[in-house]
Amino acid sequence: MTKILEFYTCGSCGNVVMITHTGEGELTCCDQPMKLLEEKTADAGKEKHVPVIEKTASGIRVKVGEVPHPMMKEHYIQWISVKKDRNFYIHALRPGEAPEAEFPVQDTNVKSLIYCNVHGLWTNKK
Ligand SMILES: [Fe+2]
Repeated sequence: MTKILEFYTCGSCGNVVMITHTGEGELTCCDQPMKLLEEKTADAGKEKHVPVIEKTASGIRVKVGEVPHPMMKEHYIQWISVKKDRNFYIHALRPGEAPEAEFPVQDTNVKSLIYCNVHGLWTNKK
């Protein structure tokens, strides 16, 4: 079955790629198969990764964690995304910025995916 929006990583170099349409071929990087990033939702650790969505005057704000995630160069949220119907929004972040982003979406019942460079891919709903 064709899927959209899957993310794969390379175990050697750390490349992360987004698939917008799956095909039959196997993705490889550094001469080895790339690994599908699983979407995690449970958060047992001290650091929080599960996206929290709140309504704003013009759309929604997605915060990473009820307790803000660290945003240091070695460990930070690289991007926050929102999927709503057939639209996909992604906001890139830099170390030192707040782990949050706003999107022009008029509904808080959306799926958000976020990527931590240390702890991987997280979502608020599967
Ligand atoms: Fe993290």
